Amino acid sequence: MSLHFSLLTLFPELLRPFTSEALLGKAAVKGLLAFDLIDLREYAGNRWRKVDDAPYGGGAGMVIRVDVVEAALQALHQPPSTPPDEVILLTPAGQPFTQKVAEELSEKNHLALLCGRYEGFDARVETLVTREISIGDFVMMGGEAAAACIVEAVARLRPGVIGDEESWRADSYSSGLLDYPEYTRPAQWQGLSVPDVLQGGHHAAIERWRRSKALERTWARRPDLLPTAGLTPHDSASLLALGLSPEQLSEIGAPLPPPQRRRRKKSAPPTPEPESQG
Ligand SMILES: C[S@@+](CC[C@H](N)C(=O)[O-])C[C@H]1O[C@@H](n2cnc3c(N)ncnc32)[C@H](O)[C@@H]1O
Repeated sequence: MSLHFSLLTLFPELLRPFTSEALLGKAAVKGLLAFDLIDLREYAGNRWRKVDDAPYGGGAGMVIRVDVVEAALQALHQPPSTPPDEVILLTPAGQPFTQKVAEELSEKNHLALLCGRYEGFDARVETLVTREISIGDFVMMGGEAAAACIVEAVARLRPGVIGDEESWRADSYSSGLLDYPEYTRPAQWQGLSVPDVLQGGHHAAIERWRRSKALERTWARRPDLLPTAGLTPHDSASLLALGLSPEQLSEIGAPLPPPQRRRRKKSAPPTPEPESQG
C-alpha cells in the first residue's frame, strides 16, 4: 500500500521538484508513495484568491484564514481521496520532530501537512488538526521546507523506498545512538588513513569497532541520548574504556559491565614426592 502525502501550501511549485526527483520521485513512479500538492488559494472563496487577513488586535503581518483551511481539508474527504489519518500543522510552536515521530507517521496511509506563511494560521486551525509539529527551535518564512523534512524522514522508512531496511535501522537515532563513522576509497588521503580494522574483513571485529565508535561519538556529542539507547553490558565496558567513571555509567542508567574473567594461574606441575631412601 502506498503512503499518500497531501501537502497544503500557498506555493505548490516549491514542493513539485522536491517530490518528483531522486528517491522520492522514483518511489512515486513505483507507486510506493503518492504526492498531492494542494494550493490553498484554490479554496480562498473569492475571486482575488486572497487567503489571509490582518490580525485582530493589530500588529505586523497577515494571518491565514481558518475557513480557507477548513474548505481545503473538507475537499480531502471527498472520494476518490481517502480521509487523512493525520492532519499536521507545521508551526515553530509544535511538538519537536524526532525519529520516533517519523517512525510513528510512517505507519499511516495518508498524511496531510499544512504549510503556513506570513504570521501563520488563525489559532482556530488547531481544532482542525491531529497534531502540530516543529522541525526545530528556529523560525522559517514558510512551512514548505518543514514539510519537505518530514516527507524525507518518513518516506525513507516505508518498505522499498530506500531499498535496504538495514541501512536505516543502523542510522543515527534509529539505533538509539549516533551513527558510527563511515569511510570509502581512497584508503589514504592527505595523511589520513582508513582504520585498519575496516580494511581487514573480520566481520565480528568490524561490528565491535563500529559499536564502540557509535558509543564514543554519542558520548562526545549527544550524551543525552545514552539513557534511552538500550545499552548492553558490553557497551558499559566500552564506555568505561572510553573514560567514563562507574558513577557516570550509573547516572545514565547503563547496566553493569560483564564481570572480568580472571586469568587462572597456571598451576605448577606437581613436584615429585621425594623417594624414600629406606
Ligand atoms: C514566519 S512563520 C510564522 C511564525 C509564527 N508567527 C511564530 O512565531 O510561531 C510562517 C510559517 O512557517 C512555518 N514554520 C516556520 N518555522 C517553522 C518550524 N521551526 N517548524 C515548522 N514550521 C515552521 C509554519 O508553517 C509557519 O506558519
